[in-house]
Amino acid sequence: MPHAEPVLEVRDLVKHYPLTQGVLFRKQVGAVKAVDGVSFEVGQGETLGIVGESGCGKSTVARMLVHLERPTSGTIRYRGEDITRLSGRALKAVRRDIQMVFQDPYTSLNPRMTVGDIVGEPYEIHPEAAPKGDRRRRVQELLEVVGLNPEHINRYPHQFSGGQRQRIGIARGLALRPRVIVADEPVSALDVSVQAQVVNLLERLQDEFGLSYVFIAHDLSIVRHISDRIGVMYLGRIVETGTDNEIYDHPTHPYTQALLSAVPVPDPRAREHRERILLSGDVPSPADPPSGCRFRTRCWKARERCALEVPLLAVPAVFRDAATPARHDSACHFAEEMHVVPGDTTARVGEVAPRGEAPPAPPGPGAGDPGPV
Ligand SMILES: Nc1ncnc2c1ncn2[C@@H]1O[C@H](COP(=O)(O)OP(=O)(O)OP(=O)(O)O)[C@@H](O)[C@H]1O
Ligand code: SF4
Ligand SMILES: [Mg+2]
Repeated sequence: MPHAEPVLEVRDLVKHYPLTQGVLFRKQVGAVKAVDGVSFEVGQGETLGIVGESGCGKSTVARMLVHLERPTSGTIRYRGEDITRLSGRALKAVRRDIQMVFQDPYTSLNPRMTVGDIVGEPYEIHPEAAPKGDRRRRVQELLEVVGLNPEHINRYPHQFSGGQRQRIGIARGLALRPRVIVADEPVSALDVSVQAQVVNLLERLQDEFGLSYVFIAHDLSIVRHISDRIGVMYLGRIVETGTDNEIYDHPTHPYTQALLSAVPVPDPRAREHRERILLSGDVPSPADPPSGCRFRTRCWKARERCALEVPLLAVPAVFRDAATPARHDSACHFAEEMHVVPGDTTARVGEVAPRGEAPPAPPGPGAGDPGPV
């Protein structure tokens, strides 16, 4: 679906962590280039999926979006306003609107706090969002919205399953009625069947409240299912970006093709016809990335030009005039279309209802009145 005005606009975002030496006189001897020039947009009600191998900079991007880290350079705009270097009251106001859901429901909830205190904690920081006397009712409504029993408000996190704990984390993320949710691997720690329930919940909440998501994961099947557009990251940069159909069915960057070739294919006949691309070598250190194209040390197509010239993230010249889904941004000098995945890559998350269809009812009471969300 088309998305007007971007809610979030990220331009040339960079995060370098200094590498220092010496005990008394610490001097900088280099930098870990965790994120090194990332740009993207997210529209209202849209989901941008970000995928990539461990260490490519996904969480660092997420932390900068929610102001847990300051970028080294670059800009983040929220609804047209540059929020990159906000502080004080202005920052507090923006933080209400951009919330984060974390990966691990086991460690991200304080075991000594009740569910009511956890979900209501944002109201302590933003008391203007809910008057004191009304908070309990609001928290109960939030529990209901995420499919938990509001009567369990006085229970502790250990009395819930992993999936239920992630619902608690989502309820907390919704408490301040945000417009954007940055979800960093929100289902990676959960069983496959529970993953599907949480993904369905996120989709339902998005449809109900017009939320925009930045959804980070390394599981390509889940990212495809939930995302409208996808950015593929490698060593601090986005190397290919497009709609789910463009990326999954018409990838043109060798790294994306290699990632997709490793996605499990449930249909045995389709599996026979699939092409596996095995990458050689390890991911290079982000403290010393290769010259030119960062992927060149593992790319089977690399040539001399790849070491000399940084490929820009743009529609490759060969596809510029073509009316094909291969016409999307890809940072490769020798971009070519390759049909890597036969069949449906969403099949592994079989329990997830296709977008637009009614998701299975969540456990516990129904969604009810959106209330404070
Ligand atoms: N505070 C820090 N100081 C130094 N280096 C850091 C810091 N935080 C992250 N890094 C490095 O930055 C790079 C990107 O890390 P990041 O956590 O963003 O990766 P990721 O894509 O989220 O990986 P994963 O899939 O494992 O969660 C890694 O090489 C990591 O070691
Ligand atoms: S620019 Fe060269 S090394 Fe980089 S992905 Fe393309 S072919 Fe491979
Ligand atoms: Mg991470």
